[in-house]
Amino acid sequence: MIMAIVDLNTAIQRLKAGHIVAIPTETVYGLAARIDREQSLRQIFEAKKRPFFDPLIVHVSSVEQARGLTRNWPEVYDTLAEAFWPGPLTLIAPKSDLVSTLITSGLETVAVRYPNHPMALEILRGVGVPLAAPSANLFGQTSPTQAEHVESEFSGHIMVVDGGPCRVGVESTVLQAEKTDKPNHWRILLMRPGGISRAQIQTALTPKYKIEFVSAHSSPASPGHLPAHYQPRNPVVIVETSDFSTDKLLKDTSALLGKEFSRAYWLDLGGQPEQAARTLYDRFRRLSTDSGVIFIRRTQQNSGQDWEAIWDRVGRAASVTLKD
Ligand code: TXA
Ligand code: MG
Repeated sequence: MIMAIVDLNTAIQRLKAGHIVAIPTETVYGLAARIDREQSLRQIFEAKKRPFFDPLIVHVSSVEQARGLTRNWPEVYDTLAEAFWPGPLTLIAPKSDLVSTLITSGLETVAVRYPNHPMALEILRGVGVPLAAPSANLFGQTSPTQAEHVESEFSGHIMVVDGGPCRVGVESTVLQAEKTDKPNHWRILLMRPGGISRAQIQTALTPKYKIEFVSAHSSPASPGHLPAHYQPRNPVVIVETSDFSTDKLLKDTSALLGKEFSRAYWLDLGGQPEQAARTLYDRFRRLSTDSGVIFIRRTQQNSGQDWEAIWDRVGRAASVTLKD
């Protein structure tokens, strides 16, 4: 395979000149372009085979820069930024004129994130212009959490900065805050669960605000929310049965999917949500080199609220759920 690893300075120069480069963040690798070049932004969509109706996240290296991209910055975002930025939280707000509708897919809102990865920050500061960056994978596929994943996803044709394995491992939490009529009361639309949990958001906001979570339903405004997304090459099957003998499960899966499967891979999520998130996508990839079924057991132990982002991604990756 063609090697596509480049150093930080090369990446900064390429991005400045209007090329696209894959960069590490703490969540997943992103495919970046400066936001003020239509041509570069189009290249992102083309390389990913991403439909133009799926808006991009804009990455910044300060809260000031984020505010400059918006027309109206809800006051709760100051508290959230203080608590979680730089970090795996993406905030949606009405966009300013600096943000083209190519980035937002025609929406009047923009999604902004201040990532927490030393190389991402060095690149953002070096380029000096915010960078639009969706996850660096082909549309609908598993997001990359290592530079090698990006190389294999694009057969070495996209330059990538190697920042090591991503610490968080699933994408950022995406939310939009809306003020209600009641004093200090906000509605938090959770567009995508991710690196920051509801409990963390609740804790950060409760001293000052009353909040109510609303889950955003599948809408073209947030295709990260399409029911099928993040799909590895092998079928993923969620196992909720009390009998989990592999032979029986393989037979049931073959019957349900209308295709014969003889090999099973068990992906054990373990008992620690952060650890499970960090390794999930790499394991999806590793377990897809030969054809087989990836079984994942859902248990009492791994289905609490801290596991929301993991089950969201596993749910979108899964073809079926087997129950008793
Ligand atoms: O962790 C992350 O967020 C990674 C890293 C690279 O930062 N990026 C990422 O980007 O996951 P992407 O494009 O794969 O997912 C962005 C999600 C999509 O589901 C998109 O629909 C949603 O954010 N989004 C972007 N702008 C939006 C907007 N204005 N309103 C609602 N959803 C929006
Ligand atoms: Mg993505």
